[in-house]
Amino acid sequence: MVDRLTVWDVEVRLFHWTLAVFFGVAYIIETEWPALHAHAGYTVLLLIGFRIVWGFTGSRHARFADFVTGPHQALRHLVELASNDAPRHIGHNPAGGVMVLLLLTSLAITAITGTILYGMEGQGPIPTQWVAAWPDRPFVIAHEIAADATLALVVLHVAGVILTSLIMRENLIKAMFTGDKAVRR
Ligand code: HEM
Repeated sequence: MVDRLTVWDVEVRLFHWTLAVFFGVAYIIETEWPALHAHAGYTVLLLIGFRIVWGFTGSRHARFADFVTGPHQALRHLVELASNDAPRHIGHNPAGGVMVLLLLTSLAITAITGTILYGMEGQGPIPTQWVAAWPDRPFVIAHEIAADATLALVVLHVAGVILTSLIMRENLIKAMFTGDKAVRR
């Protein structure tokens, strides 16, 4: 029997799949259903807030200290992957770690600018008088660019996960559901 190790705690798994659903809902609904779009966006913002706290307090592989490295290590990992010479990482690999930070940042920018815009319309948690005098155009542009950048990152993220799973012969998607990976000696 193969020994298995819990890599992703239940909080990381719940965070991941609810984040994917709520980002998808917010992106697809867009202006068709403004209240649902906005509430999906607030949920994304709360999830990001939770993940930042969990990055310092969660289990071993959930912690930023476990997977945040510099761009050099990320690049080296990509070169090693391409030459089929990459070491196995039980948590996020260095390139995956950079992607996690990029996703969290672009999601946060998208959700924060969206919340401010909704506040300008007199809706949502931000008191309108705080933001009513601000020009909305820069926020509209920032919100749209950040949302599209997030979608592009998600496409790259899923492609990276599939490619890494194939090269390393390990089903990373299944691990994000079950939380565990095989212990290899
Ligand atoms: C069908 C779509 C998706 C699949 C199959 C997928 C799969 C995965 C997998 C396997 C991991 C772990 C990577 C590793 O082993 O290092 C991961 C992590 C992550 N994914 Fe996705 N993902 C999907 C969609 C999304 C979406 C839509 C977002 C954001 C909007 C997202 C954001 C993240 C984040 C932030 C992490 C880091 C998890 C953490 O450490 O908390 N993913 N994803």
